[in-house]
Amino acid sequence: MTTLVTGGAGYIGTHSLVELHERGMPFVVIDNYSNSGAGSIAAVEKIIGTPVRILFGDIREKSFLQGVFDRLREEGRPITSVLHLAALKAVGESVREPLQYYENNVYGTLNLLDVMRKNDADHFVFSSSATVYGNPQYLPYDENHPIAPTNPYGNTKAMVEKVLTDVALANPKFRVVILRYFNPIGAHASGLIGEDPVGEPNNLFPYITRVAVRKLPELQVFGNDYATTDGTGVRDYLHVMDLAAAHALALELCASENIGVSVFNLGTGVGTSVLELVKAFENVSAQTVPLRIGPRRPGDVASMWADAALARARLGWSAKFGIEEMCRDGWRWQCTHPEGFGQR
Ligand code: NAD
Ligand code: WQD
Repeated sequence: MTTLVTGGAGYIGTHSLVELHERGMPFVVIDNYSNSGAGSIAAVEKIIGTPVRILFGDIREKSFLQGVFDRLREEGRPITSVLHLAALKAVGESVREPLQYYENNVYGTLNLLDVMRKNDADHFVFSSSATVYGNPQYLPYDENHPIAPTNPYGNTKAMVEKVLTDVALANPKFRVVILRYFNPIGAHASGLIGEDPVGEPNNLFPYITRVAVRKLPELQVFGNDYATTDGTGVRDYLHVMDLAAAHALALELCASENIGVSVFNLGTGVGTSVLELVKAFENVSAQTVPLRIGPRRPGDVASMWADAALARARLGWSAKFGIEEMCRDGWRWQCTHPEGFGQR
């Protein structure tokens, strides 16, 4: 019984591998290193003290995927479940290059599902995103909030959710957990793995940490005139290791009962503003983060946070870590690895 982790060399993937290992859940990884490299897997190996089985390849190539299933079956440890993390994830890039996003995130997933079907692998855990909800009609978002993404990246996630629902309807043995992440940040407590974006980060937390290690001069705060406590955008940040734990629980849920399709928000249920996050980071790191207030970023919403009650009730999951631990662990990674994992 092996779990195939697609995109396992990436930010959320590496943290999930550590969690799966700690829970004694066997896995194999595939990744095309389009947004990662071998360095992150080497760091996971250092943490868990054992080699990680990784096969280099692309989910858009069906023959590659079939080969992976064949090899693992021949080795006597057939793939029975998939933790599907591989995707492109930059919202702005998805607006400029929509076809790349549909090809990687939708077509790639269709390939994977087809190969799973042919190989009798029936358990699927999918990395979706709170971005599928679009502009909040009410807060906190619960899982019944209307789905109305506002960009191609979000559309790809919403499309795959629909596909999964149809596949589950057609195949009663197919069990799927759709996880809608809010804003994962932080790093493993060892400081050996963490988020390593290429070039200038798109997201707030890695931007803050890069300013703190003086790789970037200052943070630009995208607007301070929102209807929030201090005027800056409010998000539901969650520790990446809490997210990793949710993946393991989701795989266990698939294995334990016939759930059909289950959808869970993953967040803390607590909103934090940009300035609150900066302040918390400065306190924990003893660094100063120079900042400048700039205009709003087009497409941003003022506030969003999760109602994560369903994940607590059905998945037995709730976030253990708060903002301070997220900042502490994220800073430990960044200050010990100012160049990230190095050469890709
Ligand atoms: P990441 O870019 O660090 O990891 C994704 C991994 O997938 C990378 O290692 C990349 O090389 C690989 N990959 C991409 N396309 C591939 C392909 N065609 N074939 C094989 N491998 C491929 O991103 P992440 O932050 O770890 O995100 C993981 C998943 O979680 C993604 O599906 C993302 O959309 C989703 N998600 C992320 C966030 C976030 O804020 N990080 C929020 C919500 C959802
Ligand atoms: C957080 C807050 C910004 C950068 C994005 C994706 C979403 C999901 C997570 C994958 C906002 C502000 C940011 C900066 C800033 N990814 N900000 N200066 O926008 O909630 O979500 O990442 O699924 O799909 O859209 O996260 O970290 O970009 O922004 O002031 O340099 O920080 O305006 O209020 P967001 P973020």
